[in-house]
Amino acid sequence: MKYFEQEKLEIIRSKISDIKNPNILELGVQKGNSTLMFLDICNKNDGYLTSIDIKDCSSVSKDKRWKFIFSSDDNFEYINQHLANKKFDILFIDSYHEPSHVRKIFYHYFYYLKKNALIFIDDVMWLPFVENGVEDNDFIERINRLTFNKLLEIFNNNVENLTLDINFNGSGLAILKKIGDKLNKETEIKNRLFSIKNLIKKFIYSPKPKN
Ligand SMILES: C[S@@+](CC[C@H](N)C(=O)[O-])C[C@H]1O[C@@H](n2cnc3c(N)ncnc32)[C@H](O)[C@@H]1O
Repeated sequence: MKYFEQEKLEIIRSKISDIKNPNILELGVQKGNSTLMFLDICNKNDGYLTSIDIKDCSSVSKDKRWKFIFSSDDNFEYINQHLANKKFDILFIDSYHEPSHVRKIFYHYFYYLKKNALIFIDDVMWLPFVENGVEDNDFIERINRLTFNKLLEIFNNNVENLTLDINFNGSGLAILKKIGDKLNKETEIKNRLFSIKNLIKKFIYSPKPKN
């Protein structure tokens, strides 16, 4: 899984390496793997990185192109004072991997993004975590499934405002682009797989295709 974490950072790097003067917002620093990758891009392309973490990660770098905000990323009142009227080209969401938290910060920071900004959301895939999967983990399976479904609901009601691609490797990476100015509220996507009609088709009456 570690291999895929590095691979995901390389995918992000390849998507942003041509952006001149990138203004990047990162949620979740920890030991700084993604932070250092973003700072490398900022130094090459004359950009600036702002990162937020609920833990003090200020020792990760002394780079002049970096501002660290020591706060929960949903302490909006406090963070707004630091961000003022800034608009970002890139948003990386890798903080508290809980579906309603991801939804809350996605809707909030969307309005801090420029048109055509790229949004990367880490850990949206559950396949490695299913029962008997390579990383069998009930809790992560559940939250990643719920985060993935939430993203589909948001995308489904915003096809004029967002594009969405998913990289399925490891714990998954969602790659979105802001193409519209506003975000509509998400709504539940109805699933007909378990409708009475389809259950009857599956278990009682399942005609074979004609030759
Ligand atoms: C998965 S790690 C980030 C890894 C980092 N992006 C990297 O690639 O190396 C998650 C980080 O999010 C932070 N975090 C958790 N909840 C948070 C919150 N509500 N606001 C800001 N940061 C949070 C944790 O302290 C932790 O450092």
